[in-house]
Amino acid sequence: MTIELSMLVPHVPSICHEDQVPDFQQDMVSAMKRMAKEIEQIKPDVIVLVSCHWPSTFFHYVDCTPIHKGILTAIEAPDLIKDVPYYYPGDADLAAELVIAGQEAGLQVQGVNDPYYVWDYGSVVPLRYLVPKEDIPVINLSVTLAASLDETYRWGTAIAEVLRDSDKRVVFLSSGALSHNLVRGRHNKPTIAEHALDKQFIEYVMNKDFKSAYQMLPEYARMARVESGGRHLAMLFSMIEDGCQPIYMADGQSSGSWNVLITFGKKVVSSSEEKVEEEFIK
Ligand SMILES: [Fe+2]
Repeated sequence: MTIELSMLVPHVPSICHEDQVPDFQQDMVSAMKRMAKEIEQIKPDVIVLVSCHWPSTFFHYVDCTPIHKGILTAIEAPDLIKDVPYYYPGDADLAAELVIAGQEAGLQVQGVNDPYYVWDYGSVVPLRYLVPKEDIPVINLSVTLAASLDETYRWGTAIAEVLRDSDKRVVFLSSGALSHNLVRGRHNKPTIAEHALDKQFIEYVMNKDFKSAYQMLPEYARMARVESGGRHLAMLFSMIEDGCQPIYMADGQSSGSWNVLITFGKKVVSSSEEKVEEEFIK
């Protein structure tokens, strides 16, 4: 049917539990909770999510599992994310269609159907805020390290075609950061040089110059160590349709990374609290 809404969402580990969120990440949490209400109004049939914390080596994986149920302790941060339960429905049929479409496009795509596969925190953390009732089916996608940005974009294009041809209403989530040159100390922002690239990228996005934003990705990713090499952003660009309106909802640092929540909807998001773009470029 349609991709009703696409979003770039943060997943910084320190927001996993709402009662432990530091002050400088509160805006991101508040914005995600506002977007949860927006998603509830959209009533999507499925959420398709690509996560920087599902890095596959060679194949593009699609999580075809009919029921996603597990308890997550994050490998990288078991102190922050420990024994977090999740229980979301899947969409095995649509996921299988994505696999076939990718293979027919000549891409190395495989489906995964495994009740023992445990989700990563790039999936669990944003979904805890955006779909707190766990009542919307989810299809997860890996970021594939052997795939270039261009191949990732082509994979996203194949996915988007299937989603638009389906009779389902879809919300697409790209879970990952911008600058991601991590340092110790959660309060730290990116360096001035890294953040200058963040600002330029955001400016292109907010001006709907998606072509320039995409074109700067390879060098931006290299110089600012954009999370997953920017693959989650390449796939996001493949989902954004003409007429989509970007809205900058929130941002924040985490250990030298820069994280933003930007929505791309067909209509103006009803929140009156979205920021003017200039406010972010700080
Ligand atoms: Fe991450």
